[in-house]
Amino acid sequence: MHGSIFILLKRFVQTHYDYSTWIKLIELSGLSSADFDINTVYPDEHIYQLVGQAAEMTGIPAEVLQEKFGEFLVPDLMLVYSKYVQPEWRTLEMIENTEHTMHGQVRRNHAEASPPVLHVTRVSENELLVDYISKRRMGALAVGITRGLANYFDEGDRIKVTPTTSENGEKVQIRVERLPRQAKQ
Ligand code: HEM
Repeated sequence: MHGSIFILLKRFVQTHYDYSTWIKLIELSGLSSADFDINTVYPDEHIYQLVGQAAEMTGIPAEVLQEKFGEFLVPDLMLVYSKYVQPEWRTLEMIENTEHTMHGQVRRNHAEASPPVLHVTRVSENELLVDYISKRRMGALAVGITRGLANYFDEGDRIKVTPTTSENGEKVQIRVERLPRQAKQ
């Protein structure tokens, strides 16, 4: 997994807990370094260990942690990849374009990186079906990223994100709906 994800995970733990929690997590996960490099791709086992240990330490289920982490990492991802984002895009368009823009760029820049495949179907003007495919089984992170994008685009109150399968599999389906804005009283 790409170093940026570890760097953001470290920031997530430090923001919600503190630095000593991060160090404890690194030790419990059997990792030798608490720092990660943005240009390095690390073994996937490191992320599994970190998420698994974090779930044990906090008592919060791994899927819930992944969702929270996904929401948290969106603003930083958007900052780094802002030049690939068209000004008229909002949550649904961002998701529709991730496969060939953001994730495509990650694949081109790092031969060893392998972002998940996202097959996106536009069901109607206001609804997408996202088919997530990855051996890493991190569909909960995809759910969190989707919610984070909705917040990023100030659509958090009208974007409904519903996994229609278990979030745990290599294939996860997520329904993303844009609800009408509430009329002002
Ligand atoms: C701003 C847009 C995005 C950027 C810059 C971005 C970037 C990345 C990067 C760098 C990775 C690490 C890949 C690797 O090391 O192999 C990754 C993984 C991942 N991305 Fe994205 N991504 C974006 C949007 C999305 C969206 C919209 C979703 C889902 C709806 C998503 C779901 C995931 C998941 C679940 C992973 C974890 C790895 C896996 O499951 O195999 N990403 N992304």
